[in-house]
Amino acid sequence: MKSAKKSVCIAGTGYVGLVAGSFFADKGFKVVCSTLDEHKVDIINSGKAPFYEKDLDPIVEKVVRSGMMRAVRGRIEAIRGSDLIFISVGTPSLPDGSCDLSFIKGVAEEIGKGVKECCDSPGVCGGHGYKVVVVRSTVIPGTTRNVVLPIIEKLSGKKAGKDFGICMSPEFLRQGDAVQDTYIPDRLVIGEHDEKSGEELLKFYRECYGKKVPILRMSMESAELVKYASNSLLATKISFTNEIANIAEKIEGIDVTEVMKGVGLDSRIGPKFLNAGAGFGGSCFPKDVKALMSFAKERGCETKILSSVMEVNAEQARHTVDLVERELGGLSGKTIAMLGLSFKPDTDDMREAPSVKMITRLLEAKAKVKAYDPVSMKSAEEYWLKGKNVEYAKSAEEALKGADAVIIATEWPVFKEIKPETFRKLMKNPLVIDGRRIYDTKEFSNGGVKCVGIGRK
Ligand code: UDX
Repeated sequence: MKSAKKSVCIAGTGYVGLVAGSFFADKGFKVVCSTLDEHKVDIINSGKAPFYEKDLDPIVEKVVRSGMMRAVRGRIEAIRGSDLIFISVGTPSLPDGSCDLSFIKGVAEEIGKGVKECCDSPGVCGGHGYKVVVVRSTVIPGTTRNVVLPIIEKLSGKKAGKDFGICMSPEFLRQGDAVQDTYIPDRLVIGEHDEKSGEELLKFYRECYGKKVPILRMSMESAELVKYASNSLLATKISFTNEIANIAEKIEGIDVTEVMKGVGLDSRIGPKFLNAGAGFGGSCFPKDVKALMSFAKERGCETKILSSVMEVNAEQARHTVDLVERELGGLSGKTIAMLGLSFKPDTDDMREAPSVKMITRLLEAKAKVKAYDPVSMKSAEEYWLKGKNVEYAKSAEEALKGADAVIIATEWPVFKEIKPETFRKLMKNPLVIDGRRIYDTKEFSNGGVKCVGIGRK
């Protein structure tokens, strides 16, 4: 008997695509991951992820070994054999803050060709005649309907809602927690072009998740905006917290961590994303907030809150370096250790990382920088900080040796283990600028180490 289980194509093997593909395969669906990068194909088919993402490797290994998932170069083969096609390619920022849709358009063209072939001769496509296309990449409202859909219709000569289905279903994965967020999401959102498309995707999600996960159905445009509104609100919480932190630093006895704990226990607010620090980075928050601002501006809509969110964030990395300068009475000739380079722990991603802004500023002020990160030093040296005069240490301890101050830029768990005596013994001057609020200032002070935390005088 032919299995009723859907076959899935994932176009794009970044962390969003590969984690989703591995999850669907783990739930018993045949998955083909399509990428344009031959090198990635080899790595995935050898049972590994081509990038670091916590807990992902064992799942990739399992589903590749069992034959449930494989990667192919190019799109058409993967599209032909699938019932559901997830578009998970990147939408990088253009200089004006808007999204670069060239990857999405390229995939849509290939899908158009595949849809034509499979509708006209389903036999060639193993019976996978009717397909549902699901846009998962983050795109501004209207993109699925006005960009993706017309390309597929044009190249296929077929009609959405009749010959093929189309939905927009944003993802809410955090890097470093992408596996957990995929296996246990807070909610799933289905933006549907027509009822049948939505029903098909709903059925698939229910087979993956059962009844436990709330699934919302709405228009494609609303679904597109859910993603931007969510990320913008989370970024707003962080910048708001950092603004409170800056106020807290002016008054003796206030600690922003205590304050935001008190604030976050209000169930209307919630305790998450209220950690003060050196600011948010990553591939999503800065990009998505800017894209929403640019989308609004084009439509004559002011975004006063979002502008402030970005301003406060830019200021925050500067402010962290200012704290070092203030404490040392100047930066020129000083050796500053930087613990952490990635924009958050459990990832080697350095896109928009506060560490890059801080290191640039330190070097401009003629300080010497010694950096250590458990996983991102290679990408830092080869790309993000290429050509910059940074010394890379083999361990946190080596970075601390002889330093005048250390900035904690990423809250990697290994840094939390470092005791005050280690800072005291290794550093020339035991000064810790805790840009992620991971240390107990009192314990450090008792241990002979001056620890300056963001949001605490
Ligand atoms: C984010 C969203 O959380 C996720 O839903 C979306 O799909 C993609 O964007 P991500 O960028 O991977 O995920 O990481 P996240 O954990 O949200 O952190 C983003 C940045 O905010 C990091 O630089 C982090 O250090 C910073 N942050 C986070 C804070 O400064 N304070 C906080 O309280 C939380």
